[in-house]
Amino acid sequence: MKPVELAKNVYWVGAIDWLTRDFHGYSTKRGTTYNAYLIVDEKITLIDTVKAPYRSELMHHIRAIIDPKKIDYLVVNHVEMDHSGSLPEVVKEIEPEKVICSKMGHKALLKHFHQEDWPYHIVTPGEELSLGEKTLNFLETRMLHWPDSMFTYIKEDQIVFSSDAFGQHLGTSERFDDEVNQDVLMYESTKYYANILTLYSPIVKKLIAQIEEMQLPIKMIAPDHGVIWRKNPGKIIDAYSRWCVNEGKGNALIIYDTMWESTRKMAKAIAEGLQEKGVSYKLLDLQVNHRSDVMTDVLDASAVILGCSTLNNGLLPRMAGFLMYMRGLRPTNILGAAFGSFGWSGEAVKLMNKSMQEMKFTMIHKGLRVQYVPEDVHLRECVELGHTVAEALEDLKAGKEVVSVE
Ligand code: FEO
Repeated sequence: MKPVELAKNVYWVGAIDWLTRDFHGYSTKRGTTYNAYLIVDEKITLIDTVKAPYRSELMHHIRAIIDPKKIDYLVVNHVEMDHSGSLPEVVKEIEPEKVICSKMGHKALLKHFHQEDWPYHIVTPGEELSLGEKTLNFLETRMLHWPDSMFTYIKEDQIVFSSDAFGQHLGTSERFDDEVNQDVLMYESTKYYANILTLYSPIVKKLIAQIEEMQLPIKMIAPDHGVIWRKNPGKIIDAYSRWCVNEGKGNALIIYDTMWESTRKMAKAIAEGLQEKGVSYKLLDLQVNHRSDVMTDVLDASAVILGCSTLNNGLLPRMAGFLMYMRGLRPTNILGAAFGSFGWSGEAVKLMNKSMQEMKFTMIHKGLRVQYVPEDVHLRECVELGHTVAEALEDLKAGKEVVSVE
């Protein structure tokens, strides 16, 4: 891969990671990229670096354009190791005049690399920095998704370097949105938002309002992962505007795990009830669906129905792990219900209910438990649970309030 020119004298010089399949618990089936950008001006500037093992790829790309020692400024939009792992070596090699970061970025850099003597230049939100022909502007984006995160903007080219925001874990030879399959691009963008940004939705909402208020002209959005939004940056901003308000599509997800098929039988009967009422649904067995793919569906779901057998007075481990993961991401505006089979103690339904209550789901059922193997009468109850969920969804659609059961 060669460096790619985004605009006159602005280059992508990052690295493509075709290997990674797990990003601390998020499955990255299509790999990812670590994007870094080089601006050649009177003051030559590198925006972000790459994960440590990819440093030589970054330097190779820079060398194809200039001698790295000529770099004056190094901008650190975000300190997480996938963008800063190579930083100590890069700083040593290029000896920049300034290491530019936010106030929180400075603190995070010190805590990561313990280098008091780097030539830090802490920027304040809205600060401008002239590079010669081009001017950089810095926008603090705390908690999107780390305290240190910031955006860098080239005023003359109207390019936003958005760090992790608006990215995708998508490792491809293509560098721009108009060069890749749109369905894949939007799926990976959705998955990225669902698994990294859902819990920061209120901050995303404020940021989008702020960008609109600033009337910031945006020709291109260049994130730190995946492709650059050159043809249609508005498409991903519109998508973020929708995702950050967690508006469901009126659909339901039945997310479950089973020991001896009983809970699966219950899941299918609930699905039948939803089907009878014309509700779009998905059956997501945690044995075959990765938690991060399931969370992608949760992002625009209106109802989540959880099913699990009881094991050793608790939950099956896959459901316990999924609940822990989902709770961290804090999805909102969701109707909830739980079901499951048990042998003698039957705590699973109670535990799932508790977890959904803690996530502030609107609970529309007290929970359905069946001992050992369901008979027709039990499966009928499951169908009815499907109907109950469908009716609550209908009420939501009609703008009626749906109240949690006690
Ligand atoms: Fe891609 Fe938060 O690092």
